[in-house]
Amino acid sequence: MQNRRKRSKTRINFWQDLMTFILFLAVIFTAFSDTVLHQWSGAGLVAAVFIHLGLHWRWFVATGRRFTKKLPHRIRLKLILNLAMLVVFLLLSCSGIIVALIYAPGVTTFHIVCFYLFAGLLALHLALNWKWILSQLLHIISILSRQKKPILGKI
Ligand code: HEM
Repeated sequence: MQNRRKRSKTRINFWQDLMTFILFLAVIFTAFSDTVLHQWSGAGLVAAVFIHLGLHWRWFVATGRRFTKKLPHRIRLKLILNLAMLVVFLLLSCSGIIVALIYAPGVTTFHIVCFYLFAGLLALHLALNWKWILSQLLHIISILSRQKKPILGKI
């Protein structure tokens, strides 16, 4: 029962992570092509990141509480990285809102710098979770190939 609940939580996390990543890509592509779509996909990304944060809130609180106590270096690094990412993401979103409302070239430059910072931090975030990502992808591939077998068997 608990195993099933854990599995369904993992599945929710996987699809939510994927959706957030797709929105992140959409924000990049629209930045060079369509301002309105860029603003809408940006708003979508803000919502997706907050949902993501909500899904991992317990991790944040539990790890934060143990920060000064014994904590593996990798987890400590993850916490610092996630906090930095949250701050940069908030700056990125706020500067994006300002740029959408008024003409402010200085803020635009700041928005771009925040974007590069966020992209770098995100790359690290994904790299630190690469084992989880790979295992989920392999799991989905195995489900898809299992679903194909009976159909082929009938033929
Ligand atoms: C495009 C944006 C993002 C993507 C694609 C992404 C992806 C992921 C992935 C694949 C995981 C590991 C699997 C899981 O438990 O879901 C994860 C975990 C996590 N993410 Fe993100 N994430 C993004 C942005 C953020 C941001 C901005 C924060 C802000 C703090 C954040 C906080 C966390 C936390 C706390 C965890 C759990 C602990 C950890 O493994 O680091 N994520 N994320």
